Amino acid sequence: MIERTLVLLKPDAIQRGLVGEILKRFEQRGLKIVGMKMVWLNREFTEQHYAEHVKKPFFQELASFIEEGPLVAIVVEGLKSISAVRKIVGTTRPEEALPGTIRGDYAHYLIRGQNLVHASANQKDAKKEIKLWFKNKETHSYQRDDEKHTTR
Ligand code: RTP
Ligand code: MG
Repeated sequence: MIERTLVLLKPDAIQRGLVGEILKRFEQRGLKIVGMKMVWLNREFTEQHYAEHVKKPFFQELASFIEEGPLVAIVVEGLKSISAVRKIVGTTRPEEALPGTIRGDYAHYLIRGQNLVHASANQKDAKKEIKLWFKNKETHSYQRDDEKHTTR
């Protein structure tokens, strides 16, 4: 099933100059970028995006980190893209993320929470998050040239 999922390249990815490297990992896998913008979050928006975490003990730390600088938000489309992207991103805790994943290769294991990327966890979240982050006209349906060679 072709799905869309929300991915955030968090402020640490921008500060460390990893935007190109991270985008490349989705692109080279054949996943299609169908929306992209740079956003600097305020607290109101952070609370909407991370509503499930607002009452958790780490929320203040998470909020000040995600608001410390601009981030890049993208919508990624592809076959089972929600789980495919989570696999490419790797597990939440950098010290547990496998080599070959974005977090396993780049997230410093001593810096908890600064794990470079967010990716929607499931279909319900993906739908809700894409709606929160992107207006309809900010995402685009188009065919990539390589689809001619890979679609049967
Ligand atoms: P994300 O939502 O950012 O894609 O990450 P995730 O699903 O892998 O992890 P989640 O449990 O949703 O946690 C959201 C973000 O909160 C920070 N966090 N810090 N200090 C802590 O114990 C802690 N736990 C989570 C991380 O930045 C995590 O990505
Ligand atoms: Mg999450």
